[in-house]
Amino acid sequence: MEIFPSIFLYILLFPLLSEFCSASDTLSSNETITYGKTLVSSGQSFELGIFSPSDSARKWYIGIWYKKFPEIIVWVANRENPLGNSSGVLTISSDGDLVLLNDTTGFIVWSSNSSKSEPGTVAQLLESGNLVLRRKYDNTQNYVWQSFDFPSDTLLPGMKMGWNLSTGVNRYLTSWKDDDDPSPGDITCGLDNIGMPQFVVRKGSEKILRKGPWNGIQFGGSARWSNPFYKTMLVYNNEELYYMGNLVDNSISIRNTVNRSGLLQRYLLKKGESSWTVIDSSQNNQCNQYGLCGANSICKIKNRPVCECLYGFVPKSQSQWDVLDWSSGCVRRIPLRCQQDPIKFLKLGGVQLPDLLQFSLNKSTSLKECRAECLKSCSCIAYANSDIREGGSGCFMWIGDLIDIREFSEEKQQFIYIRMAAAELNNNKKTRLVLILVVSLVCGMLILGFLIFCLIKKRKMKRASDDNVKDIELPMFDLTTVTNATKNFSLTNMIGEGGFGIVYKGTLPTGQEVAVKRLSKNSGQGLQEFRSEVILIAKLQHRNLVRLLGCCLEGDERMLIYEYMPNKSLDHFIFDEHRKTLITWKKRFEIVMGISRGLLYLHQDSRLRIIHRDLKTSNILLDSNLNPKIADFGLARSFGGDQTESKTKRVVGTHGYMSPEYVVDGKFSVKSDVFSFGVLLLEILSGRKNRTFQHPDHHHNLLGHAWLLWKEGRALELVDGICEPLFVESEVLRCIQVGLLCVQKLLEDRPAMASIVVMLSNEGVALPQPKEPGFFIERSCAETDRSTSEEICLTQNMVTISVLEAR
Ligand SMILES: *[C@@H]1O[C@H](CO)[C@@H](O)[C@H](O)[C@H]1NC(C)=O
Ligand SMILES: *[C@@H]1O[C@H](CO)[C@@H](O)[C@H](O)[C@H]1NC(C)=O
Ligand SMILES: *[C@@H]1O[C@H](CO)[C@@H](O)[C@H](O)[C@H]1NC(C)=O
Ligand SMILES: *[C@@H]1O[C@H](CO)[C@@H](O)[C@H](O)[C@H]1NC(C)=O
Ligand SMILES: *[C@@H]1O[C@H](CO)[C@@H](O)[C@H](O)[C@H]1NC(C)=O
Ligand SMILES: *[C@@H]1O[C@H](CO)[C@@H](O)[C@H](O)[C@H]1NC(C)=O
Ligand SMILES: *[C@@H]1O[C@H](CO)[C@@H](O)[C@H](O)[C@H]1NC(C)=O
Repeated sequence: MEIFPSIFLYILLFPLLSEFCSASDTLSSNETITYGKTLVSSGQSFELGIFSPSDSARKWYIGIWYKKFPEIIVWVANRENPLGNSSGVLTISSDGDLVLLNDTTGFIVWSSNSSKSEPGTVAQLLESGNLVLRRKYDNTQNYVWQSFDFPSDTLLPGMKMGWNLSTGVNRYLTSWKDDDDPSPGDITCGLDNIGMPQFVVRKGSEKILRKGPWNGIQFGGSARWSNPFYKTMLVYNNEELYYMGNLVDNSISIRNTVNRSGLLQRYLLKKGESSWTVIDSSQNNQCNQYGLCGANSICKIKNRPVCECLYGFVPKSQSQWDVLDWSSGCVRRIPLRCQQDPIKFLKLGGVQLPDLLQFSLNKSTSLKECRAECLKSCSCIAYANSDIREGGSGCFMWIGDLIDIREFSEEKQQFIYIRMAAAELNNNKKTRLVLILVVSLVCGMLILGFLIFCLIKKRKMKRASDDNVKDIELPMFDLTTVTNATKNFSLTNMIGEGGFGIVYKGTLPTGQEVAVKRLSKNSGQGLQEFRSEVILIAKLQHRNLVRLLGCCLEGDERMLIYEYMPNKSLDHFIFDEHRKTLITWKKRFEIVMGISRGLLYLHQDSRLRIIHRDLKTSNILLDSNLNPKIADFGLARSFGGDQTESKTKRVVGTHGYMSPEYVVDGKFSVKSDVFSFGVLLLEILSGRKNRTFQHPDHHHNLLGHAWLLWKEGRALELVDGICEPLFVESEVLRCIQVGLLCVQKLLEDRPAMASIVVMLSNEGVALPQPKEPGFFIERSCAETDRSTSEEICLTQNMVTISVLEAR
């Protein structure tokens, strides 16, 4: 009776007992490690054994982990050659190498393969997490082999990262390929040794982060780490170059990792605590992104936006720069003409030096000689001391563009001298003087102005009158001028009819052609309010917005005078069989970009936050070069706003462009504009109207059609045949995807304009997969009666909407 339970207990306990017994830190030559048996370091910190990182347990590895955190693997031996199941054997081979055999066949899956191995070695897992192979009675650090020489994705204290210069062996971290696949991923992190050491993280062969170059004291661009319990150091001599951190206080643990996204993180665990905290992360600093600001610019983390051109340089593409795409970088304002012009150098301190791409280094040159060398060579763009110890020595000279300069807050010790046309620096002094003069003058005037303003305000308040027409900055046109210009608003001068009134072409007495928008009456808004709104609108100025030139407010009349656009609106082109041949794919793409920039400006960059609410092809005007300009912006805010709520109960907007939440609940936001933009984008690509779209196979509108094609992987068929021969497939697909993202049903799924601009203009950005569009199956009338003309369809929808409105 008693035996049975005790045997049972014995069987249950056996694995535990055996583990306990085998919890030694050393493996001798006739011992083995199999699944369930492990080595544990003397202080119980680390454990070595066979594990599988994934739940499916298809791949098995020999690795080292924290005894208390088995899920944190710090090292993997056979990263590239997993075992098929858990029955592997780790042992020491007859010639003294550590080998991993796969089960019965005895096939060597992995071997330490050390050139120094000899029979009679033992393997020991040290308290530092280092697995070493040493001669049995040799307790020095003269190891035959050590795992610290073959890092995985984790740098532990005491582990060297860097070069053995005599053999050229480089030790660097490599990320895992996946969360459950420890084989080497494409992120590497290590030291570059070209002239002076630089700390570099790469994705494949492309740099994504850089700290350096080493200046004798620290890596330029990284704050000196003054941590009382973890000291980092760089050793650089003729034999080796390595970076290492050491724990001062043994009551804590530190680990440094690089993950699959290229993110570096330093974790800390205090004794007795049960979770790790991140104490340093490369993510914390946007400027860590390698070359974020492009060539010849500087990344300043304290600025918003972070990038700015170096002094004397201007953005290469202002339009890209405006939408925070800095990749094209900056070019010289005044080009260098080496032989003719006098040259000066601009001294810049407190920065991380540019990357060592095209450069030369002479470690025995002084700064003075360095300057002389640089002056002699036309291709030398900048120079600096390479070592800042003892007053500075060595000479870096850069040739070509300066990449990845960054401001950092350490005291200015290292300076870079950038070659400038002398005119640039002379100007500088003069402009500075002028600037000081101007600033003091302006300040004086401002103070004076403020006093006068206060005085006037006081008086006005006394008079309590509201006639302050005079302080409007916007030109006011009188009614006669406008009437004459438009030939008394004759029908022949009418060029369009929009949501807010009729548009006439006019010619001012000066000969200037203008477009006059005569707003329909009864806006329900006070004259004063309206006027201030218009002044706000007039302040919105952007290349892709139609410019407001002035207004005319007399009696009941409210008119806005705009610049005249000779090419009318976009719908005249893309929906017209003949004219659509005039706009190639390239042009269409430019138009899309232009509209997106204009809209971004309205949503975000202007001082007001403007929601357009009636974005459609007929509100996109084209100038003489077919550049798009958004019209009618800001009107909904001043004009339509009241309409929706009180007077006509009409949702401002046009069917086919309105987002579901706007039509149904009357809720509008920047995301309803994004929806309209998406429709617009798909219309531009397809040359078809969303509203009137017909397809023999189904009853969906254009959005539904695009969605179906997208799901079937035939999205390219959406494209208008006219522009097909010249299109760039990847660009088109990107546009379609962005379009579908914009018209997603839920507004929180739709991207903001800022991301849209980035998505459209950058090939590299990964796009999310779109979800089903809003109004996917909108047209019930088309289903009931196919022959129904568009007209009827429209009215039916109108009815629906007014009913909804009346709730
Ligand atoms: C290993 O082999 C040696 C000599 O052959 C022997 O003395 C020792 O007991 C063995 N150890 C184990 C654990 O089998
Ligand atoms: C062991 O290795 C051999 C040779 O590569 C292979 O055929 C066999 O399937 C492996 N066994 C296991 C369990 O992985
Ligand atoms: C591992 O695979 C081998 C051959 O594929 C098999 O003989 C052995 O029983 C397996 N071991 C385990 C623990 O599944
Ligand atoms: C062991 O190293 C030698 C060179 O040192 C190499 O040729 C050999 O392929 C390696 N063997 C294994 C199993 O890695
Ligand atoms: C560099 O590698 C060689 C060959 O493995 C070794 O003898 C030497 O000690 C190493 N140097 C350092 C500084 O570790
Ligand atoms: C890398 O780490 C960061 C922060 O922990 C995390 O957000 C990101 O998803 C990780 N990347 C991968 C590919 O695991
Ligand atoms: C480095 O500069 C010194 C002094 O300016 C010069 O003598 C030496 O030749 C230079 N070395 C190289 C490799 O150019």
